[in-house]
Amino acid sequence: MFPLNIAGLRFVPNGRAVLDGLDLELSGEGISVILGPNGTGKTLLLRLLAGLLPPTAGSISWAGAPHPDGRLAMVFQQPMLLRLSVYTNVEFALWPQAISTTERRTRTREMLERVGLAHRAGDCARLLSGGERQRLALARAWAMRPRLLLLDEPTAALDPSATEAVERIIREIRTEGAKVLMTTHNLGQATRLADDIVFLADGRVQEHVAAQRFFAHPQSPAARAFLQGELPWRMAFDR
Ligand SMILES: Nc1ncnc2c1ncn2[C@@H]1O[C@H](COP(=O)(O)OP(=O)(O)OP(=O)(O)O)[C@@H](O)[C@H]1O
Ligand SMILES: [Mg+2]
Repeated sequence: MFPLNIAGLRFVPNGRAVLDGLDLELSGEGISVILGPNGTGKTLLLRLLAGLLPPTAGSISWAGAPHPDGRLAMVFQQPMLLRLSVYTNVEFALWPQAISTTERRTRTREMLERVGLAHRAGDCARLLSGGERQRLALARAWAMRPRLLLLDEPTAALDPSATEAVERIIREIRTEGAKVLMTTHNLGQATRLADDIVFLADGRVQEHVAAQRFFAHPQSPAARAFLQGELPWRMAFDR
């Protein structure tokens, strides 16, 4: 499945290029964080990788193959939860897997335990708070034992303690051997979690370097402006 190779990726809806020749190579280890101004195509890139929509041009290859041979899970910014119990939301996701009923139930309980939602197992998932929903969505994704986990702004709109809880879960998922590719607008979070940073602007990857190096010595003018808080709106919107 890895390395994941993206070459010349283009996404041009209605004649406007959002992604315009994006190249990226990712190894199967660690947490890679995608940074970039609003509207640069971060969510889009995750959706393209998840196979949820086709690119206009370019290629995505997984260790040379057109499809990943390992499991891939994605957690959206606003997770879609079934109008069922917290427990069923996790258990349901495991139905397609060839595991026994006992294993499915055990795994579901274990995951809810690990994200601190075991005591809410019988409650309707739609009644959960924002932070609890994110933890449930992570439990559901984690239960699938993905080789690659795609996370789109997993802590947007969460308070500091909910954010910390979600970051702890993300670290544990990484430790258990999943590759994590995520987006965030929280630069503190990026410094806490990222092994490497993928900086996206102007439809391309402008920099892909170790996180420490990115924050200490950003190379591209766009990344420097971004880190100084001068969001390059023009680059994102006025092309
Ligand atoms: N399926 C689609 N069809 C047409 N346009 C799309 C589609 N998906 C995304 N776009 C456009 O592509 C651009 C990038 O969107 P995307 O959601 O990926 O940005 P982003 O980098 O995640 O921004 P933010 O930081 O605000 O989350 C937007 O202008 C969006 O309207
Ligand atoms: Mg987005």
